Amino acid sequence: MSERLIIFDTTLRDGEQSPGASMTREEKVRIAKALERMRVDVIEAGFPIASPGDFEAVQAVARVVEASTVCGLARAIDKDIDRAAEALKEAELGRIHTFIATSPIHMEKKLRMSPDQVVDQAVRAVKRARRFTDDVEFSPEDAGRSDIEFLCRVLEAVIDAGAGTINIPDTVGYSLPDRFGALIRELIERVPNSDKAAFSVHCHNDLGLAVSNSLSAVLNGARQVECTINGLGERAGNAALEEIVMAVRTRQDIFPVDVALDTAQIVHCSRLVSNITGFPVQPNKAIVGANAFAHESGIHQDGVLKSRETYEIMRAEDVGWSANRMVLGKHSGRNAFRTRLAELGVVFESEEELNAAFSRFKDLADKKHEIYDEDLQALVTDTNLVSENERFKLVSMRVCSETGETPRATVTLVLDGEEKSAARSGSGPVDATFKAIEALVQGGCYLQLYSVNNITSGTDAQGEVTVRLEKGGRIVNGQGADTDIVIASAKAYLHGLNKMLAPSDRTHPQM
Ligand code: KIV
Ligand code: ZN
Repeated sequence: MSERLIIFDTTLRDGEQSPGASMTREEKVRIAKALERMRVDVIEAGFPIASPGDFEAVQAVARVVEASTVCGLARAIDKDIDRAAEALKEAELGRIHTFIATSPIHMEKKLRMSPDQVVDQAVRAVKRARRFTDDVEFSPEDAGRSDIEFLCRVLEAVIDAGAGTINIPDTVGYSLPDRFGALIRELIERVPNSDKAAFSVHCHNDLGLAVSNSLSAVLNGARQVECTINGLGERAGNAALEEIVMAVRTRQDIFPVDVALDTAQIVHCSRLVSNITGFPVQPNKAIVGANAFAHESGIHQDGVLKSRETYEIMRAEDVGWSANRMVLGKHSGRNAFRTRLAELGVVFESEEELNAAFSRFKDLADKKHEIYDEDLQALVTDTNLVSENERFKLVSMRVCSETGETPRATVTLVLDGEEKSAARSGSGPVDATFKAIEALVQGGCYLQLYSVNNITSGTDAQGEVTVRLEKGGRIVNGQGADTDIVIASAKAYLHGLNKMLAPSDRTHPQM
């Protein structure tokens, strides 16, 4: 039997540090539940000291997740550790992950601390975290650019202080696979008490090498990999969970480890994260891209028809692409709807939630005959996007677009409880709609990005619109789906405005 590779998902923490990817507490809980169903070993739910919102999200995840360990991040500072411990108090299995930078540039320029002070602070932090839990992880931030002698010194000291997991981050994505693998091997060999801790890696993708670096580390002794769904994360992102997991699973001839994940949940998790954050998945993305299992060339198609293994190294079903894709239609009942969504890993919290989604499903089935899994997922996300306490709600809209005429949109919204309408012209129907909404809301936001993706094929498909809004340096994404892309656009714009203009307390401390 192979050894277990621990999969540590940080979509809710490092993934959320992607500009525009911030998530609400409810969204984090939904993703955490999907990760737990996929049997992810550790879920890093957030950075509790960062803001009351982050604290509450970690607390909410800790309350509902039972089978996976829930982790909270903390700088090597007493108040951070105490706050993380408080957020994790109700977790069935809780871990505190504390970190301090060890590279010369970070110690000198950012921390303004001597190496001796860094060692002392790291040890103090681990000891303090151990007062609250036996499960403590330590990361020497920017390890990829740290001096190996110094790393060995810090790691020996924190393992002695009680850290059970040592995570080696390539914080700036600077490492190369051979060297990163060699670093992990050397650390395990040289740190005298390395057998008392599990070695982990956390790679960023600035040079497009996060997955390669992580896999090289696994071949050299790492037994935990930190990663995110769809490779979401700071700057160019983190190592993609789906790529790590499927590489290890597919190449069992090479890897001395295996994962405990239910890989059939991967596509669902990918869609969920993409829908919630508004970061689309590129079609040629490995494992979860729409084309990942599609063969265009006649030679390939012919080969696959004769024997799948000629051109396919994995089965689409094993990562959750369903073979039978047409699922429901207008005559399908509530039970069929609930059952299919349960098969897709979507569980309703209450009868009201199920009823709201089912009523939207019936509306959609009136417009579109064949409802695919992708439609159902978008519909559930769309239902969840409409929260009770949103300030602006779409009541109705009317858009006129005619050759030779300037498009004009009339939009009616409920604005802080009061119904109001405005009409505006624009260069196109979407432009006119956004101008009419802005005339009512007066949000003053800058539209950084507008994109439309068709959820399934065909002209009756739903369009999924993502907008990215910026105001005073803050960035949020909004999403909306509808068979009418102008309505989908209005929904996405309002979703973004509701997020942007709701009171926010997010203030990530400097790392
Ligand atoms: O990239 C990094 O160094 C991190 C640490 C906090 C682990 O995210
Ligand atoms: Zn990171």
